[in-house]
Amino acid sequence: MKIAKTLGQFIIEKQADFPYAKGELSRLLRDIGIAAKIVNREVNKAGLADILGEAGTINIQGEGQKKLDVYANEQFISALKHGGECCIVASEESDEYIPIDSEISKDAKYIVAMDPLDGSSNIDVNVAVGTIFSIYHRKSTGGKATIDDVLQRGTEQVAAGYVIYGSSTMLVYTTGKGVNGFTLDPSIGEFCLSHPDMKIPKDGVIYSINEGYYAHFPDGVKKYIKYCQVEDAKTNRPYTSRYIGSMVADVHRNLIKGGVFIYPVTASAPNGKLRLVYECNPMAFIVEQAGGKATNGYDRILDLEVKELHQRSAIFIGSENMVNKAEEMMACFSPQLTKKNFEGLVELQ
Ligand code: AHG
Ligand code: MN
Ligand code: MN
Repeated sequence: MKIAKTLGQFIIEKQADFPYAKGELSRLLRDIGIAAKIVNREVNKAGLADILGEAGTINIQGEGQKKLDVYANEQFISALKHGGECCIVASEESDEYIPIDSEISKDAKYIVAMDPLDGSSNIDVNVAVGTIFSIYHRKSTGGKATIDDVLQRGTEQVAAGYVIYGSSTMLVYTTGKGVNGFTLDPSIGEFCLSHPDMKIPKDGVIYSINEGYYAHFPDGVKKYIKYCQVEDAKTNRPYTSRYIGSMVADVHRNLIKGGVFIYPVTASAPNGKLRLVYECNPMAFIVEQAGGKATNGYDRILDLEVKELHQRSAIFIGSENMVNKAEEMMACFSPQLTKKNFEGLVELQ
């Protein structure tokens, strides 16, 4: 039987790609892998242990936190604190960024932004959830790292990844040299390389969008949905609609099979729902590295200016040809939204 390469072995092997990094990034990725295994253990027990349901708290975005949101947040923060390679953690579940100023982290060079549990509304019903992370170099020198170290454009990411806690658990990541996927082998407790050099098909037949909000979508998105539903043998239409409601799971499926995931601006979410720093940017980095595309309907996600930690953005992400087509529809039917900050979205209704 062929022995699979573990995540740890792969990371060490790839360390040579970053001669300047002296192993810190490798250790950081290792720490994230460890936290992912701990969260995976709890997600797998959901239903048995008393970890389902609401935590009774609300995050800065006004969303009720699940117990597992809080648990995953604590586990990742704690793993990053103990690892000593990270000087700031920024998280969906923490209002402000968290400086890490313990003795072992005083020379830490990296910033980690994360969505500790993505799709958490699905956790109570055994549907796949995920973790998303994004890693930046600290920009400032000397003194304490600041919010400016966090608010970097997506193009500045040195690594990004996600973990999907699905029918099997996978960790997928990029350091800007392609995308690799590792499946957790529960019998040995290791992530093993199962999807080397992942590539997203240029085209696909899956579109993922919450069509329940159709009435609130910009015309460009409505036209694209109609385009997906029209019969045309040459382009394999009508396409298939798949929407899990966990971005990680939807994007992961599309990465493997080809497809587009869209969360546009809507009348009720005039800047989009998903967060730029720890949802859109890392997923955009991964999908681009796999040969796909990610935009807000007009501009490349990774180039967007980051002004706030919990800033939101629309996202169109996936197979290049599908994103291009959706963008074409936006340019044609929703040109009024091209303003960078989509203000005045009342026009939508
Ligand atoms: P989170 O659980 O981290 O708040 O993210 C949920 C996100 C994303 O995973 C998903 O694609 C989207 O919200 C679903 O939103 P709708 O229910 O509005 O479709
Ligand atoms: Mn999320
Ligand atoms: Mn979340």
